[in-house]
Amino acid sequence: MLVFAHRGYSGKYPENTMTAFKKAHEANADGIELDVQFTKDKQLVIIHDEKIDRTTNGTGYVKDYTLEELKQFNAAKVHNETCKEETIPSLDEYLNWVKDTNLITNIELKTGVYYYSGIEEATLNLVKKYNLEDKVIFSSFNPLSVVKIKELAPDIKVGLLTESGGIQNAGQLCKDFHFDYYHPDKKDLTQETIDGCKECGIGLNVWTVNDLEFIHKLYEANANAIITNYPDIPKIYLNNLQK
Ligand code: G3P
Ligand code: MG
Repeated sequence: MLVFAHRGYSGKYPENTMTAFKKAHEANADGIELDVQFTKDKQLVIIHDEKIDRTTNGTGYVKDYTLEELKQFNAAKVHNETCKEETIPSLDEYLNWVKDTNLITNIELKTGVYYYSGIEEATLNLVKKYNLEDKVIFSSFNPLSVVKIKELAPDIKVGLLTESGGIQNAGQLCKDFHFDYYHPDKKDLTQETIDGCKECGIGLNVWTVNDLEFIHKLYEANANAIITNYPDIPKIYLNNLQK
């Protein structure tokens, strides 16, 4: 079972920053989950919220700033005890770094609250620029973005992301729509979902899993990956189990 670092090593470092990504790599994570949005000038940036208020020293919507303007803000607001200054990374900056590692990247398109028209094509083009088609998994809470990625690039892996109860027969849905993975909130994961995904050949990437008891349960269930805020402890735990 793989360990993906949720927004990088976000349990200890400012989420969705190059520091959090590099620290996840140092912690031996197998992959990184990150969130992507469009700026005013249609540049791809890595940030979770539609607004910059919670994670930076600025205010307002990502979509109302150009990349150059966003770069002026300090993105080391949460966990500033471990990192004093950081910028909002562009996806280009991240992919240029990750291409020289073995990391898998779970690119979550944040199109569920505000739909950024053209973001699927733009993100795919950037992935192709760095020849990282085999090292990415696209996901989104907006199923239309997942469908669109699969339509544009059938060989690229995609996962359907859900919350608030999930979908009971998710395995079947993913199979019917040629999705590769199901990404449920751990709170919604039932034995029925685990069995259904297995029957349909759909891999499970479960978020956000930080406790070892649940990690063990998912290991026994043959999940593909956990998405966690603290990648180091699960890696050590799983390495011991797999010995
Ligand atoms: O992709 C898994 C997880 O990141 C989804 O929720 O809100 O943390 O992006 P959120
Ligand atoms: Mg996310």
